[in-house]
Parts: sequence; C-alpha cells; structure tokens
Amino acid sequence: MPISRRNFVAGVASAAIVDPREAIATERPSAESPQTAPADRYDPWLEVDPDALRHNVGVLSRLARGRPILAVIKNNAYGLGTVEVARALEPLTEIVGFAVVKTEAALALTDAGVRKPVLLMALFAEQDGPELARRGVHFALCTDDSPARVMAAARAAGRPASAHIYLDTGMSRMGVPYHRAVPWLRRVADTDIRIVGTFMGFTEDPDFDREQLRRFREVAAEARSHGIDLGLLHAASSAGVYHFPESHLDMVRPGISLYGAYPSNAGDERAIAELQAAVRLRARVVRVERLRAGDSVSYGRQYIAEHPTWIATLPVGHTDGIPREAVQGGRVLINGSLYPVIGAVSASHTIVEFGSEPGASIGDIATLIGPDDRAIEPNGLADATGRSVYDVMMHLNPTLPKVVV
Ligand SMILES: Cc1ncc(COP(=O)(O)O)c(C=O)c1O
Repeated sequence: MPISRRNFVAGVASAAIVDPREAIATERPSAESPQTAPADRYDPWLEVDPDALRHNVGVLSRLARGRPILAVIKNNAYGLGTVEVARALEPLTEIVGFAVVKTEAALALTDAGVRKPVLLMALFAEQDGPELARRGVHFALCTDDSPARVMAAARAAGRPASAHIYLDTGMSRMGVPYHRAVPWLRRVADTDIRIVGTFMGFTEDPDFDREQLRRFREVAAEARSHGIDLGLLHAASSAGVYHFPESHLDMVRPGISLYGAYPSNAGDERAIAELQAAVRLRARVVRVERLRAGDSVSYGRQYIAEHPTWIATLPVGHTDGIPREAVQGGRVLINGSLYPVIGAVSASHTIVEFGSEPGASIGDIATLIGPDDRAIEPNGLADATGRSVYDVMMHLNPTLPKVVV
C-alpha cells in the first residue's frame, strides 16, 4: 500500500498511564454528548486532555511566530468532540475562532455558547442561511452565487452577515478559481457583506504549494489594487505551519496538530517541535484466557497459537476507530507494557497476546491510542497499520463517551 505524505514513521518511547477513575472526578458536562462514567462500565471511552491541547496551541503559535490561529475543529474535532475541544480552546488568546465544514457543527458550537467566531467552510442550504446569519456564523463565499445566498440569509435574519472569501488556487475542491476571481471579487465588494478574511487550501505537494501561494498572493494584490478589502489572508494548515513559513500570511489554520498528531510521514516535524497527543482511546479488559497450542483466534483464524499463551479481549473494535490493519503491528498499552494485537480486529473486539504470563486481569485499563508511548500515538498507530493519521483520528467513533481529564 502506498504511504501517503499524511502518514508518519514512528519510533518507541515510554511514559506512565493515567487512571481514568481519577479523571471522572473532574469530568465536565457537554451539550453535545452526555458524559458517562466509563469506570462503571465495560464500554470503551475517550479521554480529552485540555493541557495537551494548550501545549499544542503554544507550539503552533510559536512556529507561526505569534500569528492568530483559526482552529480547524471539523469532523468532530478530528474525533475529540467539537464542543469539548472548542470549550478547551476558546479561552486561549492565540485562538481567534473555529473552522468547521458541516452546518450541524456550526449550529452545535453556537448552541453550546461558543462566542468566538465560527467559520463554516462549506456551502449552506438555503433554509439554514437565516439561522446561521442570526447566530453570527461566518459564511464562506465559495461559489459564484455565494454572495447572493449570503445576502438573502442576512436579509432574512435582519442582521449583516460576515464571511471569508474562499479561493481555489489549485486544489480544485472548493472555492472560486483564482484565474477568474477578480471580477467576482469586485461584485463581492459591492455587497454589504463584512469580509473577515480570504483563504485557500494547499494540495500539500511542496513544489506546487509555492505556485498556489504565488497565485493567491497575485489575486490578493490585484484585488487590493482595486480597493477591495480581503480581510485577513490565511492558507496554512498544520503542514504549512511546520514547513512553509511564507504561507503563514495573516493567520494560520491548523487542524490535526492541535490534537497532537504530526501531518506528514517524514518524521521531521517531531524534530522541529514536539506535540502531545490530546486524546486517549481506552477500554477495560473483559476476558483473560490461556490458549493451548493449536487454538485459533477470531474470525478467519489468522492467528493459531504455536505454544500455550495468554491473551486478553478488549471490548473495542473497528467500529470504535481501531483500524482492522492493527493486526499487522498495532500494539496496546496495558499495565505499562505494550502487547501485540492478534487474530482480527472485529467490530467491537480487539484481542492482544500477553505471552507466557497473563499481563492483566479483567477490569484493567488498556490504552489503544494516546500519548503514553510512541507506538500508540496517533502517528504510531497510523504507521503500524499503513493508514493515514487523518483516518486514525477522524474515524474515532463520535458516539464514544468522552471524559475531559
Ligand atoms: C480547508 C482546510 N483548512 C485547514 C485544514 C486543516 O488541515 P490539517 O488538519 O492538515 O492541519 C483542513 C483539513 O484538512 C481543511 O480542509
């Protein structure tokens, strides 16, 4: 399988694990998902660590030489929970707002009382426009008719609308193509939409990124020469923050590194500045058994014990976000030791091998993703499974109970 540049090569290190029973005492309510006390159950859960989030914001802010950060918390904040993450980040002065791609996320944030601006980097449905405008959500002007749509929403809401202009400089995914943007920008400037910023996204092909930035700057310069106000220019995602200082412009727009994962597979980002994984995926051991030589494990009998060996079952599987490929080298931290995943990752179960001694008892806590060892960091799991670290983060099941530790 080709390794995308959004993968990462991991190494190995050790650290202590945290008992979630201590975490429960400090759990905070969430408007989005009711908190459950995971220690009372054998259901898997996620722990979100605001200290780690704060650490990562500090790292990104230093790398961006103090530029404001528009925090990308799209897709359930990469698995950690849109509202949980927004609440943790909102008090930080470095964070000037949040960016999402789903209308529902923008509504959830405003429902939860988030006050810093929320940018919806997407097309919105006509029937949602007035409510979004009423709540002060910042629209993305991303199609030829976006200005008219936003103006209609503002009129219906009875309040002026704010927006960011979305330009396509080569990604061909969203935004108005740069080569025909200037006449359109003139029409935007004729509306009374308040322009907060103008942005683009990189393809993350380092050579082409430079060309994209050149295009972006050229359009911006031409528009400004016509007196068009573009607000803050922003382009850099996590990779840009790390590797492409010229792209930092007026503001940076990172996602994955806020959560403590490195965007590339090169391994050089850790050497530039170290992040802390801000999430732990945990479950309790529900079964400990000794296999006899010849016994098999899970669907497809991919694992047959050569010798007697101890195994444990964890009630967490691919539906929760553990890649099926974890059997190819994924490991799990239990009682301070790493154990390999064997057999198959099924929807709700993962099986690990201890060896000649049982490494845990029923009820002991296993950490499948977290900062406690490089092997189980998001990048470590991505590396072991040949998956993108973006998949590892964003495939965490949004229904997992979350505890803010
Ligand atoms: C438009 C846009 N900006 C910023 C980001 C953040 O990117 P990253 O998570 O690589 O930092 C994304 C995520 O893919 C995005 O789609």
